[in-house]
Amino acid sequence: MKPVLVIGKSGQMAQALAHVGGDGVVCIGRPEVDLLDGSSLMRAIESCQPGAVINAGAYTAVDGAESDPAMAHALNVTGPENLAGACAAHGLPLIHLSTDCVFDGEKPEPYVPDDKTCPLGVYGRSKLEGEVAVRGRAPHTLVVRVSWIFSRFGKNFVWTMLKLAQTRPSLTVVRDQLGCPTHAPALAEGLLEMARQAAAPGFEAWGVYHLAGRGEINRALMAQKIFEYSREIGGPFAEVIPIQTADYPTPAERPLNARLDMSETTRVFGVELPDWEAGLRETVDGLVEEFPAS
Ligand SMILES: NC(=O)c1ccc[n+]([C@@H]2O[C@H](COP(=O)([O-])OP(=O)(O)OC[C@H]3O[C@@H](n4cnc5c(N)ncnc54)[C@H](OP(=O)(O)O)[C@@H]3O)[C@@H](O)[C@H]2O)c1
Repeated sequence: MKPVLVIGKSGQMAQALAHVGGDGVVCIGRPEVDLLDGSSLMRAIESCQPGAVINAGAYTAVDGAESDPAMAHALNVTGPENLAGACAAHGLPLIHLSTDCVFDGEKPEPYVPDDKTCPLGVYGRSKLEGEVAVRGRAPHTLVVRVSWIFSRFGKNFVWTMLKLAQTRPSLTVVRDQLGCPTHAPALAEGLLEMARQAAAPGFEAWGVYHLAGRGEINRALMAQKIFEYSREIGGPFAEVIPIQTADYPTPAERPLNARLDMSETTRVFGVELPDWEAGLRETVDGLVEEFPAS
């Protein structure tokens, strides 16, 4: 079977895809492949001869994008459009990752793919423009919106909480941001199954999908869970002081409701991610070695 080519190597999802996919996945990142260098994308496709391509490369600094909109646009719009062009030229399906940040978070229920988009910041706007750009350039595209990813790979909310707890007895964490935390290895398995189906002859269900962990929680309660598990195994922990987002201003506004409804993905692909809590235990177990309690 032909491999899946992943654009990105050092990032959280690229590492998770490599870990889960084994020999069936080829991750190529900089300097060999740069989203901004179309010829490097063509070379990667020609040398790998994949059956499908997953774009795990992006500008992901949500706050940083506010002061660097040109770079966010380059990596989240122009780069993916280059990649979509290369995939279209080779007749390859592209799975492009997007985000809950394309929504404003005002909806009381979890978001479905057809819901009205309304990004609150530069990052979300660039990712939304990227969705439109890749779909315009390559007809055989699956845009998969994901959210609140965590794992022992790379930096994420769990990593940040444990790191801060090494030096602080208490932490303020927002309690009014609600999401569906997603364990990166489980997400990687789901994405690889979608890629496998998209590469099969006769596949026609191109479009926008949502994929996130089952269950939901707010950031403050998630932090408490992280510290509960960490404490059990001798890792760092801190008291969590829940606050309102309004009392913790950041350069970029986040959607208060980041929950993604994956039922359409389950209906079309038979893919459903497990509850995030099992993945959280595994992640804390893995990270505690990196962050011994002081
Ligand atoms: N993390 C989350 O909670 C979250 C939530 C919603 C959506 N997403 C989306 O999920 C995707 C993966 O996110 P992540 O958490 O894995 O991000 P990440 O850990 O920040 O990794 C970013 C990736 O982008 C690659 N990259 C950066 N500049 C590049 C360039 N010029 N050319 C090629 N690749 C480049 C990096 O590759 P190298 O350094 O290896 O070159 C790295 O693999 C992104 O599309 C992101 O928007 C993530």
